[in-house]
Amino acid sequence: MSVTELDHPLAKDLLTSLRDRDTESPRFREYAHRLGLLLVAEALTDIEVEETKVQTPLEGGTGYRLGKPVVAVAVLRAGLGLLDSLLTLVPDAAIGFAGLQRDEETAEPIEYYSKFPEMGGARVLVLEPMLATGGSLSWAITMTKQRGATDITAVTVVSAPQGLEVIERDHPDIRVVTGSVDDDLDHNFYIRPGLGDMGDRLFGT
Ligand code: URA
Repeated sequence: MSVTELDHPLAKDLLTSLRDRDTESPRFREYAHRLGLLLVAEALTDIEVEETKVQTPLEGGTGYRLGKPVVAVAVLRAGLGLLDSLLTLVPDAAIGFAGLQRDEETAEPIEYYSKFPEMGGARVLVLEPMLATGGSLSWAITMTKQRGATDITAVTVVSAPQGLEVIERDHPDIRVVTGSVDDDLDHNFYIRPGLGDMGDRLFGT
């Protein structure tokens, strides 16, 4: 498994705004969207391209197109906060949904809804903004593999070391692109310092 932590001044600035407890939902969604653009761009930095010809207003030249389809899987509900960023950059992406909620006592994922497009041959981005215990992300990655995904990148806003260890153990073949590797989990399995509950902060619940 490889882990890429974004090291870009814009990403650091946006993440600070997301962490700030005084940032309310409308601005929080906007910052998440902008940080998502940087995360998705990084997650696709090594996708293969195919050479093509392009006619500019001046002359013929060489162009490039994405060499494989892109599929995104949003882990509900916080993953919805990164979906617009993905669709802004790759409007043709097919979208899947992994509906999981955490058991508040054990933090284990409980499935309540899933729907996935065809994934064989695609670059699959699993959008799970908060990688805490790793249970939900590991489960979502397993679901994508069962549907033929072999080229998988997880996109997270904040990751806990414990969650990264679980992904390394369960899915050593994948890449993780994250805004930050934070310090720890608290006794309620929230990431510290983190940004709180991403779903609540996105949707004002
Ligand atoms: N999910 C969140 O939204 N925040 C955390 O800190 C951990 C899991």
